Amino acid sequence: MPLTTLFPTRVYTARISRGVNDDLNTRLLRECRQLSMEDVAGRLWSETNYPGGYTSYSSASRMHRMSPTFGALEKRIDAHVRVYAKALDFDLAGRKLEMTDCWVNVMTRQVVHGLHLHPLATLSGTYYVRTPRHCSGLKFEDPRLDRYMAAPPKRRKAKRENQVWVTIPAEQGNLVLFESWLRHEVAPNPTVTERISISFNYSWF
Ligand code: NI
Repeated sequence: MPLTTLFPTRVYTARISRGVNDDLNTRLLRECRQLSMEDVAGRLWSETNYPGGYTSYSSASRMHRMSPTFGALEKRIDAHVRVYAKALDFDLAGRKLEMTDCWVNVMTRQVVHGLHLHPLATLSGTYYVRTPRHCSGLKFEDPRLDRYMAAPPKRRKAKRENQVWVTIPAEQGNLVLFESWLRHEVAPNPTVTERISISFNYSWF
Protein backbone atom coordinates (compact mmCIF):
# COMPACT_ATOMS: atom_id res chain seq x y z
CA MET A 1 0.00 0.00 0.00
CA PRO A 2 1.49 3.36 -1.00
CA LEU A 3 0.93 4.89 2.45
CA THR A 4 3.22 7.20 4.38
CA THR A 5 2.82 7.68 8.12
CA LEU A 6 3.13 11.30 9.23
CA PHE A 7 2.95 12.86 12.71
CA PRO A 8 2.79 9.65 14.71
CA THR A 9 2.08 9.73 18.45
CA ARG A 10 4.74 7.76 20.27
CA VAL A 11 3.94 6.08 23.58
CA TYR A 12 6.74 4.16 25.31
CA THR A 13 6.10 1.08 27.43
CA ALA A 14 8.70 -1.08 29.13
CA ARG A 15 8.92 -3.59 31.91
CA ILE A 16 11.31 -2.06 34.44
CA SER A 17 10.92 -4.38 37.40
CA ARG A 18 10.34 -8.02 38.09
CA GLY A 19 7.12 -7.16 39.93
CA VAL A 20 6.45 -9.31 42.99
CA ASN A 21 10.05 -10.57 42.99
CA ASP A 22 11.57 -7.12 42.78
CA ASP A 23 12.84 -5.64 46.01
CA LEU A 24 12.40 -2.06 44.75
CA ASN A 25 8.77 -2.73 43.90
CA THR A 26 8.18 -4.24 47.35
CA ARG A 27 9.64 -1.17 49.05
CA LEU A 28 7.67 1.18 46.81
CA LEU A 29 4.46 -0.67 47.63
CA ARG A 30 5.16 -0.39 51.36
CA GLU A 31 5.94 3.34 51.11
CA CYS A 32 2.92 4.10 48.91
CA ARG A 33 0.64 2.43 51.44
CA GLN A 34 2.30 4.15 54.36
CA LEU A 35 2.03 7.55 52.67
CA SER A 36 -1.64 7.02 51.85
CA MET A 37 -2.33 6.36 55.55
CA GLU A 38 -0.18 9.11 57.05
CA ASP A 39 -0.61 11.98 54.58
CA VAL A 40 -3.54 13.82 56.21
CA ALA A 41 -3.40 16.83 53.85
CA GLY A 42 -3.38 14.52 50.84
CA ARG A 43 -6.30 12.48 52.15
CA LEU A 44 -8.33 15.65 52.65
CA TRP A 45 -7.47 16.94 49.17
CA SER A 46 -8.34 13.56 47.66
CA GLU A 47 -11.78 13.56 49.32
CA THR A 48 -12.78 16.44 47.04
CA ASN A 49 -10.56 15.90 44.03
CA TYR A 50 -10.13 12.13 43.82
CA PRO A 51 -13.32 10.74 45.41
CA GLY A 52 -12.86 7.33 46.97
CA GLY A 53 -9.15 7.21 46.24
CA TYR A 54 -5.92 8.75 47.40
CA THR A 55 -3.36 10.82 45.52
CA SER A 56 -0.37 12.74 46.88
CA TYR A 57 -0.50 15.04 43.84
CA SER A 58 -1.13 18.17 45.92
CA SER A 59 0.63 17.22 49.16
CA ALA A 60 3.70 15.07 48.43
CA SER A 61 4.42 15.63 44.76
CA ARG A 62 8.22 15.40 44.87
CA MET A 63 8.56 11.91 46.29
CA HIS A 64 11.80 11.31 44.30
CA ARG A 65 13.42 13.97 46.50
CA MET A 66 11.82 12.83 49.75
CA SER A 67 12.49 9.09 49.65
CA PRO A 68 15.60 7.17 48.53
CA THR A 69 13.28 4.38 47.35
CA PHE A 70 11.52 6.75 44.97
CA GLY A 71 14.96 8.18 44.09
CA ALA A 72 16.01 4.68 42.98
CA LEU A 73 12.88 4.46 40.83
CA GLU A 74 13.75 7.85 39.30
CA LYS A 75 17.18 6.49 38.30
CA ARG A 76 15.58 3.48 36.65
CA ILE A 77 13.10 5.67 34.77
CA ASP A 78 15.79 8.19 33.70
CA ALA A 79 17.45 5.59 31.47
CA HIS A 80 14.17 4.95 29.63
CA VAL A 81 13.41 8.66 29.31
CA ARG A 82 16.74 9.08 27.50
CA VAL A 83 15.86 6.30 25.06
CA TYR A 84 12.38 7.74 24.51
CA ALA A 85 13.70 11.29 23.95
CA LYS A 86 16.10 9.90 21.36
CA ALA A 87 13.27 8.03 19.60
CA LEU A 88 11.34 11.32 19.47
CA ASP A 89 14.39 13.04 17.93
CA PHE A 90 14.40 15.72 20.62
CA ASP A 91 17.27 18.16 20.21
CA LEU A 92 17.91 18.99 23.85
CA ALA A 93 20.59 21.53 22.91
CA GLY A 94 22.81 20.60 25.84
CA ARG A 95 19.96 20.77 28.32
CA LYS A 96 18.57 17.87 30.29
CA LEU A 97 15.25 16.20 30.91
CA GLU A 98 14.75 16.01 34.66
CA MET A 99 12.04 14.61 36.88
CA THR A 100 10.19 17.54 38.46
CA ASP A 101 7.19 15.87 40.10
CA CYS A 102 6.50 12.37 41.33
CA TRP A 103 3.38 11.37 43.22
CA VAL A 104 1.39 8.34 44.38
CA ASN A 105 -2.10 7.25 43.27
CA VAL A 106 -4.24 4.67 45.01
CA MET A 107 -7.48 3.69 43.27
CA THR A 108 -10.04 1.41 44.80
CA ARG A 109 -13.40 0.42 43.37
CA GLN A 110 -15.11 3.01 41.14
CA VAL A 111 -12.34 5.58 41.54
CA VAL A 112 -11.89 7.47 38.29
CA HIS A 113 -9.30 9.85 36.88
CA GLY A 114 -10.96 12.11 34.31
CA LEU A 115 -9.53 13.24 30.99
CA HIS A 116 -6.51 15.52 31.44
CA LEU A 117 -3.06 16.44 30.21
CA HIS A 118 0.01 17.53 32.18
CA PRO A 119 0.53 21.26 31.59
CA LEU A 120 4.03 22.76 31.94
CA ALA A 121 5.75 19.38 31.57
CA THR A 122 7.63 17.86 28.63
CA LEU A 123 7.28 14.14 29.24
CA SER A 124 5.03 12.34 31.71
CA GLY A 125 4.41 8.79 32.70
CA THR A 126 3.35 6.20 35.20
CA TYR A 127 4.95 3.24 36.90
CA TYR A 128 2.60 0.50 38.09
CA VAL A 129 3.30 -0.77 41.60
CA ARG A 130 0.28 -2.97 42.08
CA THR A 131 -2.36 -3.89 39.53
CA PRO A 132 -5.15 -6.27 40.53
CA ARG A 133 -6.53 -8.40 37.70
CA HIS A 134 -8.96 -6.49 35.44
CA CYS A 135 -8.05 -3.08 36.90
CA SER A 136 -8.43 -0.04 34.59
CA GLY A 137 -5.69 0.74 32.10
CA LEU A 138 -4.41 4.08 30.81
CA LYS A 139 -6.63 5.40 28.03
CA PHE A 140 -5.16 7.82 25.48
CA GLU A 141 -7.12 10.10 23.18
CA ASP A 142 -6.18 10.86 19.56
CA PRO A 143 -4.75 14.42 19.81
CA ARG A 144 -6.42 15.33 16.49
CA LEU A 145 -9.89 14.46 17.72
CA ASP A 146 -11.04 18.10 17.95
CA ARG A 147 -10.27 18.61 14.25
CA TYR A 148 -12.25 15.69 12.90
CA MET A 149 -15.11 17.18 10.94
CA ALA A 150 -16.77 14.90 8.39
CA ALA A 151 -14.60 11.93 9.40
CA PRO A 152 -16.59 8.69 9.61
CA PRO A 153 -16.31 6.63 12.76
CA LYS A 154 -13.65 3.93 12.85
CA ARG A 155 -14.47 0.25 12.40
CA ARG A 156 -14.93 -1.64 15.62
CA LYS A 157 -11.90 -3.77 14.80
CA ALA A 158 -9.79 -0.91 13.40
CA LYS A 159 -6.02 -1.32 13.57
CA ARG A 160 -4.68 0.09 16.82
CA GLU A 161 -2.85 2.96 15.11
CA ASN A 162 -6.15 4.03 13.51
CA GLN A 163 -8.22 3.97 16.69
CA VAL A 164 -9.31 7.22 18.31
CA TRP A 165 -9.00 5.86 21.84
CA VAL A 166 -6.36 3.37 22.87
CA THR A 167 -6.04 1.79 26.31
CA ILE A 168 -2.65 0.56 27.48
CA PRO A 169 -3.21 -2.10 30.15
CA ALA A 170 -1.87 -1.32 33.64
CA GLU A 171 0.61 -4.04 34.56
CA GLN A 172 2.65 -4.27 37.71
CA GLY A 173 6.32 -3.52 37.04
CA ASN A 174 5.56 -1.66 33.80
CA LEU A 175 6.47 1.87 32.86
CA VAL A 176 4.48 4.00 30.40
CA LEU A 177 5.92 7.25 29.02
CA PHE A 178 4.11 9.79 26.83
CA GLU A 179 4.42 13.40 25.76
CA SER A 180 2.72 15.61 28.35
CA TRP A 181 0.31 17.21 25.85
CA LEU A 182 -1.33 13.87 25.12
CA ARG A 183 -4.69 13.69 26.86
CA HIS A 184 -5.49 10.58 28.87
CA GLU A 185 -7.77 9.20 31.54
CA VAL A 186 -8.28 6.21 33.80
CA ALA A 187 -11.80 4.77 33.55
CA PRO A 188 -13.69 3.85 36.77
CA ASN A 189 -11.64 1.11 38.37
CA PRO A 190 -13.70 -2.09 38.73
CA THR A 191 -11.49 -3.81 41.32
CA VAL A 192 -12.07 -3.86 45.06
CA THR A 193 -8.36 -4.35 45.63
CA GLU A 194 -6.17 -1.27 45.43
CA ARG A 195 -4.59 -0.31 42.10
CA ILE A 196 -1.42 1.55 43.03
CA SER A 197 0.65 3.65 40.64
CA ILE A 198 3.32 6.34 40.71
CA SER A 199 3.00 9.19 38.21
CA PHE A 200 5.65 11.74 37.28
CA ASN A 201 6.60 14.65 35.05
CA TYR A 202 9.86 15.50 33.33
CA SER A 203 10.76 18.99 32.19
CA TRP A 204 13.46 20.34 29.97
CA PHE A 205 16.14 22.42 31.74
NI1 NI B 1 -2.09 11.96 34.00
